[in-house]
Amino acid sequence: MSKYNVALIFGGCTPEHEVSIVTAHQVSLALQENHHVIPIYVTKSGDWLTGDALGDLSAFTDGTLPHPSDFDKITIEFHPEPKFVITSRHWIGKNVQKRTRLPIDIVFPAIHGMHGEDGTLQGLLELMNLPYVGAGVVGSAVGMDKIMMKAILSENALPVLPYLYWTRHDWDTRREVVLEEVAATLSYPLFVKPAMSGSSIGVSHVENQAELCAAAEVAGQYARRILVEKAVEKPLEINCAVMGLHEPMPSVCEQPVSQADFLSFDDKYIHQEGENAGMAGAARKIPAPISEELTSHIQGLAARTFRVLDCAGVARVDFLVDAAHNVYVNEINTIPGSYSYYLWNHQDIEFPELVSELIDLAFKAHAQKNALTYTYTTNLLSQAGASLAKLKNGVKLGGTT
Ligand SMILES: Nc1ncnc2c1ncn2[C@@H]1O[C@H](COP(=O)(O)OP(=O)(O)O)[C@@H](O)[C@H]1O
Ligand SMILES: [Mg+2]
Repeated sequence: MSKYNVALIFGGCTPEHEVSIVTAHQVSLALQENHHVIPIYVTKSGDWLTGDALGDLSAFTDGTLPHPSDFDKITIEFHPEPKFVITSRHWIGKNVQKRTRLPIDIVFPAIHGMHGEDGTLQGLLELMNLPYVGAGVVGSAVGMDKIMMKAILSENALPVLPYLYWTRHDWDTRREVVLEEVAATLSYPLFVKPAMSGSSIGVSHVENQAELCAAAEVAGQYARRILVEKAVEKPLEINCAVMGLHEPMPSVCEQPVSQADFLSFDDKYIHQEGENAGMAGAARKIPAPISEELTSHIQGLAARTFRVLDCAGVARVDFLVDAAHNVYVNEINTIPGSYSYYLWNHQDIEFPELVSELIDLAFKAHAQKNALTYTYTTNLLSQAGASLAKLKNGVKLGGTT
């Protein structure tokens, strides 16, 4: 097995910053078995920092997050080719800082939510032509946006709950129209969610219009668009991870266990069971206590969801099952908490093996991208040159007004 320099990017400008730190440290321990980890911590205000101490969770657990002035900063240089550069925090001469290229073979994103799981980081890595683990720009962006995700899944005959959405602008300017539409098409109880969020942040269960209005205000603090959907009463929640590139493979199913009406941030990360932390430490039943038939139905839906949304690497697809055994895709997480290693463990794939497999898949996807043609030979510019010269001389182009 080759040993790679793996840039592990975590933290980020996202409400799930702290969850990302836990996931990243789990991934870091797994990577260290076979690879060299370069930790890149993105602060809440967007500084990119590196330094060996950031690879150790104890740098984060005394209640204060690392301070930018204690670490080297990372910047991007685009010439002669795009690369990450470390700018030392120590001056080596008057106004001179040491700058070194960061020796990265591959990037392992471990930021949950905005600016990490939503296609923005993936877009940056595409422009830099760096191989990276997980879904690409489109899969990440669509997987993150619950409204887009539902539209695409229903277009592909995957089951989702009835829903409506509006923007914050709609809410501020024509709330009565929004409320009329909700009353005409959906019946309470409902769930109100920010289009983009995670870890149950900004998600509310509502029984009536007054609660819906309060919940819309909360959701609107986290996203520009707000989703409202039919609630499944006392749902059975089942999650299934999927791994692969062209032939995605579903994992065992799990049943997360909540202490209240629905799975909260605290259920996921605070009420921990056993030795594990983060999503890996939440209370759950593995395998989920459901029939073989329901298990394979859900596994099939999970793999199809992964393909329809053009995912890669590992994603976790979360389902809601109602009392009549109807199954609905609730959401996909393209960078799942703890990378869902606890599900793969259950089928004898240990975490170090899982991260190495994800690295191999990322190199494959990168090679396929670079085998595509990005140029096209044409004499368009010489023709356009003549037309533009006429335009410059005040002659109108044919067909324009
Ligand atoms: N339509 C629904 N019916 C019943 N419970 C729901 C519904 N939507 C969400 N929930 C509950 O809320 C939790 C969080 O919602 P989810 O859509 O998964 O948001 P997040 O991306 O923040 O995890 C779910 O795990 C589930 O417990
Ligand atoms: Mg969820």
